[in-house]
Amino acid sequence: MKTLVIGANGKIGRIFCERAAAQGLAVRAMLRDPAQRSFFESLGVETVLGDLEGEFGHGFEDCSRVVFTAGSGGHTGGDKTLLVDLYGAIRAIEESEERRLDHFVMVSAMRADHPLDGPPAIRHYLVAKQLADERLRTSSVPYTILRPGRLGDEPGSGRVRTDPAAGHGMEISRENVALCILASLGQPGSRGHSIDLLGGDQPIGELFASLEAR
Ligand SMILES: NC(=O)c1ccc[n+]([C@@H]2O[C@H](COP(=O)([O-])OP(=O)(O)OC[C@H]3O[C@@H](n4cnc5c(N)ncnc54)[C@H](OP(=O)(O)O)[C@@H]3O)[C@@H](O)[C@H]2O)c1
Repeated sequence: MKTLVIGANGKIGRIFCERAAAQGLAVRAMLRDPAQRSFFESLGVETVLGDLEGEFGHGFEDCSRVVFTAGSGGHTGGDKTLLVDLYGAIRAIEESEERRLDHFVMVSAMRADHPLDGPPAIRHYLVAKQLADERLRTSSVPYTILRPGRLGDEPGSGRVRTDPAAGHGMEISRENVALCILASLGQPGSRGHSIDLLGGDQPIGELFASLEAR
């Protein structure tokens, strides 16, 4: 049961690959640049080259699950938001449908359901996330959509909250998001759920164990 990680060289992707490798999970990291390979090889994680703006279908060979944690980032323009965050995600979902994958874990974003509630500068990005999420929800692939708030680099606490109104702050550490991806893959009950993620007090293991597949 191998998991393809799209966006593996990103901040969340790297932490996820480290944690997954430490647990003995079979993971394949999809990278854009061969120079990125050494980090993953040092973890014992297999790599494949692929670009969401080009060819990447070969990366799915022998994989039964996908983690999508790629993103065009705030330093690029709206063209990349369309090509990577929206169309790249849709193509990954379509590839997963064709190959009848078991589980697609999407790292989306909080407020993707209500882009106009977000800060003006990122509303177009939230629209891209919303449309990609919607394509996933109506696909034939079992999915989990994780919707973190603003990402930070502090160490993960292993605890989160899923109700923005139930606490203060709209941030979550990337390490906690990576731990949620891992927990989601380990819990069939997480399929069919879209979950907001913020810093909080609920143990991640407890949250995912409480979910029932939809
Ligand atoms: N920033 C926030 O506050 C925030 C909030 C909520 C959700 N998110 C979402 O969280 C996810 C990951 O966050 P992060 O901090 O880990 O991001 P990150 O460090 O910027 O990583 C993004 C990854 O996507 C890869 N990527 C970009 N374009 C690609 C393409 N054309 N083909 C394949 N891969 C491509 C990058 O590859 P390279 O390494 O080669 O550049 C990078 O590895 C994203 O989906 C983002 O939208 C972010």
